Amino acid sequence: MASVKFASGENIPLEMHKVRIVQKLFLPPVEARLKAVTEAGNNTFLLRNRDVFMDMLTDSGVNAMSDQQLAAMMVADDAYAGSATYERLEAKLQEIFGLKYVLPAHQGRACENILAQVLVTPGTIVPMNYHFTTTKAHIVLNGGSVEELITEEGLAVTSDQPFKGDMDIAKLEALIAAHGADKIAFVRMEAGTNLIGGQPISLDNLTEIRRVCDQNGLILVLDASLLADNLYFIKVRDPNCRDLSIAEITRRIADLCDIIYFSARKLGCARGGGICIRDEALYRRMRGLVPLYEGFLTYGGMSIREIEALTVGLDETMDEDMISQGPLFIAYMVDELVKRGVPVITPAGGLGCHIDVLRFLDHVPQAQYPAGALASALYIASGVRGMERGSLSEQRNPDGSEVYSNMELLRLAMPRRVFTLSQVKYAVDRIDWLYKNRSLVGGLVFVEEPEILRFFYGRLAPVGDWQEKLVAKFRADFGDSL
Ligand SMILES: Cc1ncc(COP(=O)(O)O)c(C=O)c1O
Repeated sequence: MASVKFASGENIPLEMHKVRIVQKLFLPPVEARLKAVTEAGNNTFLLRNRDVFMDMLTDSGVNAMSDQQLAAMMVADDAYAGSATYERLEAKLQEIFGLKYVLPAHQGRACENILAQVLVTPGTIVPMNYHFTTTKAHIVLNGGSVEELITEEGLAVTSDQPFKGDMDIAKLEALIAAHGADKIAFVRMEAGTNLIGGQPISLDNLTEIRRVCDQNGLILVLDASLLADNLYFIKVRDPNCRDLSIAEITRRIADLCDIIYFSARKLGCARGGGICIRDEALYRRMRGLVPLYEGFLTYGGMSIREIEALTVGLDETMDEDMISQGPLFIAYMVDELVKRGVPVITPAGGLGCHIDVLRFLDHVPQAQYPAGALASALYIASGVRGMERGSLSEQRNPDGSEVYSNMELLRLAMPRRVFTLSQVKYAVDRIDWLYKNRSLVGGLVFVEEPEILRFFYGRLAPVGDWQEKLVAKFRADFGDSL
């Protein structure tokens, strides 16, 4: 894909697949978009998909599946216990990761529930490169706390550091020295670090973390939900890995870990999840929770057909042509926005394009949820649905005060193999227009604020009438265009 050069000299990502099933899209007029987002409480999670033109909310469970995956679903062995389909999944996971024990779960957060219940006790700490919303929620629910030890560079919005997801090893050593190894539940590394812009971790960093874990008798857990993008970045950004196959890089990563868990809504382009464990005793401690929360050990809450598709999807993840599509499309979108002066996270990561809202809307205070406001504004301007990844996605302190996130991001996820380049160009065009009209965009206030994971279903209202003014400007500039 990346190796195809155009005579024009243009840098265009070229798809190494063709589209054989399509879904019709609708783009409601701007007035209808304002009505839809108002009814959704300015929360893009609450929009109806039929009102959305480009769904860039997430890459979770919405990646395009291959013909081979669909075909495999037809031969699934539908048994409650002892399904041959599950055996195929188990064997594939053992083959690519080399960890002996496998447990199925219905999605990534279900794996986190099991891990947290078994490994986290009240007062323990889980050091990690960066938190993910559901991960942190499960750890806190079990009485533990999270320590984010991302390198300083990881939080720099514009950077040319290739592995911004890396952990600061000195901070990890200092944390262990300060609290004692017995207070550390486990060390967690997240591949393709979600909340800081899909930024990858390096093999060198993971090797160092393994060393520290060995010195202190600690368990190293990898969240591999976004591993596919991360594998691609290691292949192209780490000179020591350039000659390794994706399967070889995967094994080098896995060899450093005690536990690998993942959301199969991302990794493997299906829907489900799994935990791979090296140690038998740990496996036995976790196993009992699978029938309790998920389902029997040979399906774990997943549909048998999805398991079959996942097995094929994991195999396809070892193909560089397959895993490069997302990062290359994202890089294209990021480059086009940078050319237009729109502030985005650089270097381009995996998962999606991330707009730096603190710079985009520098006039909207964090107390008015600028990233949520921009998500609402972009939907009005384009029918593109993004996701707030900023202070709205945080949880309040026990005393009720806000936790302002390090970054205020509007994430525009790029579901794998779903959008065409002209659709990406449309999104860039409307973001560019919005940036030129950014002074029109104001903040949001909560009208209904849930206590846990408020970003999923909280409802907000605009501060003032900025949304009506935005619609009027859209009409003035675009005439009767959708
Ligand atoms: C890094 C990471 N971990 C865990 C999860 C949770 O996975 P799921 O949505 O399948 O529960 C996600 C989902 O977005 C994720 O990105």
